[in-house]
Amino acid sequence: MQFSFSSRYRITPTSFLDELFRVSRDPSIISFAGGLPDTDLIDLDGIRDATAAVLEEEGRAALQYTTTDGYLPLRECIARRYQERLGIPAVPEEIQIVNGSQQCLDIMGKIFISRGSHIGMEAPGYLGAIDAFSLYEPIIHTVPIIEGGPDPDRFEKLIHNHPLSFFYGIPNCQNPSGTTYSDERRRHLAEILTGSGCAFFEDDAFGELFFDGKPRLPMKHYLLDQTILSGSFSKIIAPGLRIGWIYAPVPVLERFNHAKQAADLHSNLLSQMILVRYLQSNSLDLHIKRITAVYKEKCRLICDHLDALGLTHTEPEGGMFLMATLPEGTSSMQLFKEGVKAGVAILPGIPFYPHGGGEDTIRINFSSPSTEEINLGMERLKKAFRAL
Ligand SMILES: Cc1ncc(COP(=O)(O)O)c(C=O)c1O
Repeated sequence: MQFSFSSRYRITPTSFLDELFRVSRDPSIISFAGGLPDTDLIDLDGIRDATAAVLEEEGRAALQYTTTDGYLPLRECIARRYQERLGIPAVPEEIQIVNGSQQCLDIMGKIFISRGSHIGMEAPGYLGAIDAFSLYEPIIHTVPIIEGGPDPDRFEKLIHNHPLSFFYGIPNCQNPSGTTYSDERRRHLAEILTGSGCAFFEDDAFGELFFDGKPRLPMKHYLLDQTILSGSFSKIIAPGLRIGWIYAPVPVLERFNHAKQAADLHSNLLSQMILVRYLQSNSLDLHIKRITAVYKEKCRLICDHLDALGLTHTEPEGGMFLMATLPEGTSSMQLFKEGVKAGVAILPGIPFYPHGGGEDTIRINFSSPSTEEINLGMERLKKAFRAL
């Protein structure tokens, strides 16, 4: 049988993630290549209590269909947190619940990208975004991340020379590089974007995970009506609940809502109710403090090991990832292969560059492995280097 797949599936390269997942499933391999939060930090008791309370109090209503925009009390919680934590005048009408913030990437592609539309993103950029956008066949332009965020000169040229539908960026603790835009760079990019007709699609998956606990003002603060902001409970409560959100101007949200309805009608209502109950009964700030304290320590430990190996690397202020640069002439793909033989997985930087690059960089996840695994995994990485 010859199936008639759509042309975009013929042109989309097989995701590197497939290979990665295969390696990550092998229990004998210590993986720095994935992107999972620390399983031990998921508040099982808190979620169990919240689930029991929801089922007791809401009964079957928690298991019914609901509206596409999402459970209003949850949208109110999210809006309130923007107001109180960041001083941003969010209202629930501008917030739509999604099935993990990954769904924002797909729906943004659906409503903003026609075949051949121009979009911009960082290089290196989030692999899940490259995959999601590529299915809609855009022309992707990239701006290198340098000290303090995307290169402002390259950014300005791009905005002036191409009619971008949006620029996608991760200003806080970026995946994969671990860099954070400086406040000055945020202001500068916002100035360039003002009146340009190019929206800023701000992925804020890690904005709550700064080691110092201090919030950074998002691009949304500088460009309120031009920024589409996505957020997620995955890294701060539990990814398996699959609940994220988009905070966007109403005209964007109307189209977004329509596209989401066509995709899945609505996100899991039970998860949404559990989250509201959880947030009412627990201090999210305290929980996040516990998470960031552990991540800070693990990140420091990995940085120390990388320093001992003589590798230069980014110094994340938070989040779950960092990037290291390999010595000249060392191929990240070769290191990946040698690493797997030695029982450790790192992620070559190559797939994070849609137009090539990253051969000499690797991404390292520091949230998921335990302290013992970090120590053992880094020993194995040393062995892999020796084998090269
Ligand atoms: C930058 C970034 N955006 C979005 C996502 C998607 O996360 P979720 O769909 O669980 O919210 C991830 C997942 O790792 C991510 O790293």
